[in-house]
Amino acid sequence: MTDRYRFPDGFLWGAATSAYQIEGSPLADGAGHNIWHRFARTPGRTANGESGEVACDHYRRYADDVALMADLGLAAYRFSLAWARLLPDGTGRVNPGGVAFYDRLIDALLARGITPVATLFHWDLPVALDDRGGWLNPESADWFAEYTQVAVRAYGDRVKRWATLNEPWVVSDGGYLHGALAPGHRNIFEAPLASINLMRAHGAGVQAFRATARDGEIGLVVNLEPKVAASDSASDVAAVRRADAYMNRQYLDPALLGSWPAELAEIFGEAWPTDVANAALPLICQPIDFVGVNWYTRGVTRHDPGAWPVYAAPARQPQHLYTDVGWEVYAPALTDTLIWVTERYGRRPIYITENGAALQDPPVARDGRVQDPLRVDYLRDHLIAAHDAIARGVDLRGYFAWSLLDNYEWSLGFSKRFGIVHVNYQTQERTPKDSARFYREVIRSHGRSLDAPP
Ligand code: BGC
Repeated sequence: MTDRYRFPDGFLWGAATSAYQIEGSPLADGAGHNIWHRFARTPGRTANGESGEVACDHYRRYADDVALMADLGLAAYRFSLAWARLLPDGTGRVNPGGVAFYDRLIDALLARGITPVATLFHWDLPVALDDRGGWLNPESADWFAEYTQVAVRAYGDRVKRWATLNEPWVVSDGGYLHGALAPGHRNIFEAPLASINLMRAHGAGVQAFRATARDGEIGLVVNLEPKVAASDSASDVAAVRRADAYMNRQYLDPALLGSWPAELAEIFGEAWPTDVANAALPLICQPIDFVGVNWYTRGVTRHDPGAWPVYAAPARQPQHLYTDVGWEVYAPALTDTLIWVTERYGRRPIYITENGAALQDPPVARDGRVQDPLRVDYLRDHLIAAHDAIARGVDLRGYFAWSLLDNYEWSLGFSKRFGIVHVNYQTQERTPKDSARFYREVIRSHGRSLDAPP
């Protein structure tokens, strides 16, 4: 082992999950309904009609899961709070039973020396708020500020790192434009409004945090995917510009630069609400402490007249591996993304808040091993790419593997496995895969083991 890939001191090594994907017992102890549960309970919405009713049963097994994290040597754990556990109606009445669950979880983490990193919103909007228009209602910024205040009052003495939203693009694109995700709408007039209101909520959440917390950091988590033209034809180059604005700049530009990418008006046409969007900018553009980057793949992109409304589609790269959810594996593009964020938005703290791969794993062997060599390769290559970015001046502060556990992959149900720990959904038995063992070594050696031959 050499120091070639040694990470800076204080680099935060973690793993990530989200509430609805692992907890189960969504209505326990006085919680309100959330839109994901309602969506999953609607026939035809999710693979095999699967829901997060049980998921990984983490709600009841959290103590064992925290012990597992400690065994893996994790220094940090990124999880999300279920809004409807804390506020069953979304606003107003606080539910002590829900507050107590995250008290227990946070205390268990701290007792093991694991830093909690809390995401306020990872897609499970309370149904009571969806019934009031959800993210289409401009009051949603106030709802989110109230919820932020409740959460920070309850946990701010122990949780010092917070994220407002997880991936607003996915909520707007999947939830309001194409309808594959909750709440399942397909409406080009709604999608930009949802984006604007999500980002207004982000801004109002940051303000509420600053007004409530004594100390700590807050940031925004976005999913970024560098868009690369499939050819140098003018139409492919224009498609890349639109795809990049739509996915990557739509959220970071207003949050960090106080402006909207010009391409949004081109993409949404008459559905882009110029005045509403511009009026929202002062609230959206709040100083934040870090950018959280969820990174899975790059997007080699071509013009596609059928791909409404961005008219850009992925171009398959036969020379590369694709994961079980159809995403190209190409680690060097992670370095490019981190450098792009640094150059476009100024050098600022960044965390890789998610990174991982869905792959078909073999069953647990008799000796208790789950051999997942492709996931080991994926993690190694992306950690090296992250290290390359640091060497090139990026202020990268931490890395969170997605995911700690195999879990509920939204509308794909339990068919896709992203975990570094295998979950047997019949018995709820957890088995660390080879990738978890590999990651433990990386953490233990502070990255130095990345230099060891595969
Ligand atoms: C989300 C996770 C999801 C993962 C894999 C991210 O978009 O934050 O909830 O499971 O990607 O699809």
